[in-house]
Amino acid sequence: MIVGIPKEIKNNESRVGMTPAGVFELVKNNHKVYVQSDAGEGSGFFNQDYQQAGAVILDTIGQVYAMSEMIVKVKEPIEDEYDLIQQGQILFTYFHFASSEALTKAMIKQKAICIAYETVEDEEGTLPLLTPMSEVAGRMAIQQGAKYLEKPVKGRGVLLGGVPGVAPGKVLVLGAGVVGIQAAKMAAGLGAHVTILDVNMKRLRYANDVMPPHVVTEFSNEFNIRRLIKTHDLIIGGVLLKGAKAPNLITRDMLKEMRPGTVIVDVAVDQGGCVETTKPTTHEDPIYIIDDVVHYSVANMPGAVPYTSTMALTNVTLPYALKLANLGWEAACEKDASLKKGLNIVEGNVVYQEIIEAFGWEEIVA
Ligand SMILES: NC(=O)c1ccc[n+]([C@@H]2O[C@H](COP(=O)([O-])OP(=O)(O)OC[C@H]3O[C@@H](n4cnc5c(N)ncnc54)[C@H](O)[C@@H]3O)[C@@H](O)[C@H]2O)c1
Repeated sequence: MIVGIPKEIKNNESRVGMTPAGVFELVKNNHKVYVQSDAGEGSGFFNQDYQQAGAVILDTIGQVYAMSEMIVKVKEPIEDEYDLIQQGQILFTYFHFASSEALTKAMIKQKAICIAYETVEDEEGTLPLLTPMSEVAGRMAIQQGAKYLEKPVKGRGVLLGGVPGVAPGKVLVLGAGVVGIQAAKMAAGLGAHVTILDVNMKRLRYANDVMPPHVVTEFSNEFNIRRLIKTHDLIIGGVLLKGAKAPNLITRDMLKEMRPGTVIVDVAVDQGGCVETTKPTTHEDPIYIIDDVVHYSVANMPGAVPYTSTMALTNVTLPYALKLANLGWEAACEKDASLKKGLNIVEGNVVYQEIIEAFGWEEIVA
C-alpha cells in the first residue's frame, strides 16, 4: 500500500502521524511511504530521519494526498484539506465527528474511508488510541499545577514536595481513571499528599493497591468534595462519563470555600469540564482567575509536549496502521473487531450510530 504522512496544519499542532520507526516498519513490510517535507519537525523528527527509514519526502501536502492510498495523521482534516481527500482513500486519524457537523458532511461528500482513533475499542471497552493522550495529560497536569501554585502567577505559593520541617502540598484528584492515576503518581513522586476520589470502587481499590501510603482514596460525593477543597492546594479534574458531558463536581459557589491561590487543572475540559467555571483555554493563554482560584483548562494539553505525545500516540496506532496496509481496510476490520469499531464513515455512509444521533439526523445527510 502507498501510505502518506502529511504535515499537520491545524493551529498549534506539532505532532505528526508517524515516526521514522513507524516508516521503517511499513517499508520493511514492502509498503511505500510518502512523508511531507518537514512534517515531523515540530516533534523533533527531520526529513533525513524519515529518508533513512525508507520514506520518500514530498514537497507539498497536495502531493501527499494525491499519491497515497492511506493517510495517517493526528488531527481531523481541516477545511483546506477537504478537497485533497479522494474517493476510497483511507484516513486514519482522530476525527471527533460528533463535535463537527461540517467535518462529517465534508467526509461524507469526499467518500473516503474514515477510521477514527477515538472510537477504536478493545474487548474491555477501553479506548486504546485515546489512553496515551490521557496518560500525557494526567502527568502534565501536575507539572502545570505545580507551576501555577507559584506566587508570581497568583498561586498559593506552595511547593508541592514541601521541605524538611514544612509539610508538603496537598493534591486532590477527581477521578481515578487514566488521567487521575497518572496525575496521582506524579504528585506522589514529588512528595505531595494526594487524595483520589472516584465513584467506581474497582478504580479506588486499584489506586489503593498501587499507590504509596501518602496517597489516600475516598469516595466521590458532594459532601467529601466540599470538605476536601478547603484544605487542598491543587485540584485535578479527571472525570469522564463516557459519551456524556462531564458532571460539575465543583460548582461556582464552592470556589469561595477554597483558599486564595488554590489551583484547578481541569483536564476534563474537552468534555465540558468537571468544574462549573471551566472554559477552554490555550497554551498561549492557559489560565484565568475567578474568586482568587487559578483555573488551568487547556483543551489539548499533549500538544505542548509533541515529542512525547507523538511517540506515545504512534506506539499504539502503528500496529493498526500496519494491519490496514497489509490487509486493506475491509479484511483488516473483518479480522480485528477493535479496529472495526474505528470505522465511522465508509464511502459516503455514516456507519457509526452515535454520529447520526449526535446531529439528530434521521438519515445520512450529504
Ligand atoms: N485536556 C486535555 O488535553 C485532555 C487530554 C486527554 C484526556 N482528556 C480528558 O480527560 C478526561 C478523563 O479521561 P480518562 O482517560 O482519565 O477517563 P477514564 O474513563 O479513564 O477515567 C474517568 C474516571 O472518572 C470517574 N468518575 C465518573 N464519575 C465520577 C464522579 N462523579 N466523581 C469522581 N470520579 C468519577 C470514572 O469512574 C473513571 O474512573 C476525559 O474527559 C478526557 O477526554 C483531556
